[in-house]
Amino acid sequence: MSDAGPIILVVGARPNFMKIAPIHFALKQCGESQVLLHTGQHYDENMSKVFFDDLGLPEPDIYLGVGSSSHSIQTAEIMVEFEKICQELQPRLVVVVGDVNSTLACTLVASKMQITTAHVEAGLRSGDMRMPEEVNRKVTDALSDILFTTSEMANNNLISEGRKEEDIFFVGNVMIDSLKNNLSRVEESKIFGKLKVERGSYGVLTLHRPSNVDESEVFKGIISSLEKICEHVKIVFPMHPRTKKRAIEFGLIKQLEENPRMIVTEPLGYLDFIALTSNSALVLTDSGGLQEETTALGIPCITIRENTERPITVKIGTNKLVGCDPEKIFSAAIESLNSGNMDHKIPEKWDGKTAQRIAEVLSSRGV
Ligand code: UD1
Repeated sequence: MSDAGPIILVVGARPNFMKIAPIHFALKQCGESQVLLHTGQHYDENMSKVFFDDLGLPEPDIYLGVGSSSHSIQTAEIMVEFEKICQELQPRLVVVVGDVNSTLACTLVASKMQITTAHVEAGLRSGDMRMPEEVNRKVTDALSDILFTTSEMANNNLISEGRKEEDIFFVGNVMIDSLKNNLSRVEESKIFGKLKVERGSYGVLTLHRPSNVDESEVFKGIISSLEKICEHVKIVFPMHPRTKKRAIEFGLIKQLEENPRMIVTEPLGYLDFIALTSNSALVLTDSGGLQEETTALGIPCITIRENTERPITVKIGTNKLVGCDPEKIFSAAIESLNSGNMDHKIPEKWDGKTAQRIAEVLSSRGV
C-alpha cells in the first residue's frame, strides 16, 4: 500500500461507532496506519464513550468536540476543524460511515481537498428529502470516490444517480460484523437483572426521529399506542436525549416514567442493548440500524416511519413499516406478538466479513 499519510476513520454520532469498529480492526490487522477521529457530535458518556469501551475501540486519536447545535452550525464547525486536521496529516484516505452530519461534513472537506474518500453504507435512499439523513446520504455519495454498499438495491440507486459501476462495491453490512462479533458476549450483560425483565417477555422501543418526537400531536399519538401495547407486553424504552427533552417539554415524562409496564431507562451501551434486543419479543423503532439488526437476529420489528432507506429489511427481513398512526402501530404490534418470530432471510453478505472485504478492496485500489 501507499507510503503517503494515514487513513482517517471518522466517527461522530452513536450509530457510527459500531460501524467503524470492525473496519478499524480489519485495517489494524493489515498493518495500515490509521487515525480514529471523533467529531464530538455525540458527547454524553452513554451516547459515546460506553460504545468505545464495549466495542474494544481505542480512545479517539483526535477529538474535535463540536457538540450539539443547529445542522448548519454543527456541520460548519466540523468542517472548519476537520480541514485543519487534513492539512496537518495529509491523509491518503478518509473513511466515513452512515448518514449523520459528521459524515457529510468530513466528506465535503475531503472532497474539496481532493483527498480520496470512501463511504461505507452508500446508496441507501428513503426518497424522503425531509429527513436530514437523506440529504447527507445524497451529498456524501455524490462526492465520495469509493462507495461500499450493503445490498444490490443500493448499487442500483447509485447507478441510477450516475455513479460508475467500477466505484461501487457491494461488500455487505459492517453493523452486522459488530453484531456477530459481540453476540457471544451478551451473557456478560447484567441488564436483565437491572431492569427486572425475563428474556423473551418484553418489547424494546427506541424513538428519536425529529418527525416523530418534535411535534407534540405526533409524539402524543405514538405514546398513546405504546400505552395500549404495554397492556400486552412490557416495553423497555431507553430514551434518547432528544426524546427526553421533548417528553419533558410536552408534559409526557411523568406518565411514561410512572407506567409500571413501561421501563424507561437512560440510553444503553452497546452490549446491554444487543443483549436486550436479541432476547426481545418485539422491537418498535424509528432507527435505521435497528431495522437491520432485527433482520439479522430474526426479531420482529415494527418501524414507526412512513418510509425506509433499508427496504431489504421489509422485502426479505422481519421489518414492517407502519408509519406513526397510533391504530396501525398497535395492530401491527399485536399481530407480531401473536404470530411470534417471522419467516425471514438474512440478506446476502450480512455475514460478519464485510470489514475484511472493505480492507481487501482498499488494498486492491492501492489506497
Ligand atoms: C443524530 C443523527 C441521526 C442519528 C442519531 C442517533 C444527524 C442529522 N442526525 O440525531 O441520523 O440517527 O444521531 O442517535 O446527524 N444530545 C445530548 N447528548 C449527546 C448528543 C445529543 O444530550 O451526546 C441532545 C442535544 O440536545 C441535541 C439533541 O440530543 O441537540 C440531538 O442531537 P443531534 O446529534 O443533533 O441529533 P440526533 O437526534 O442525536
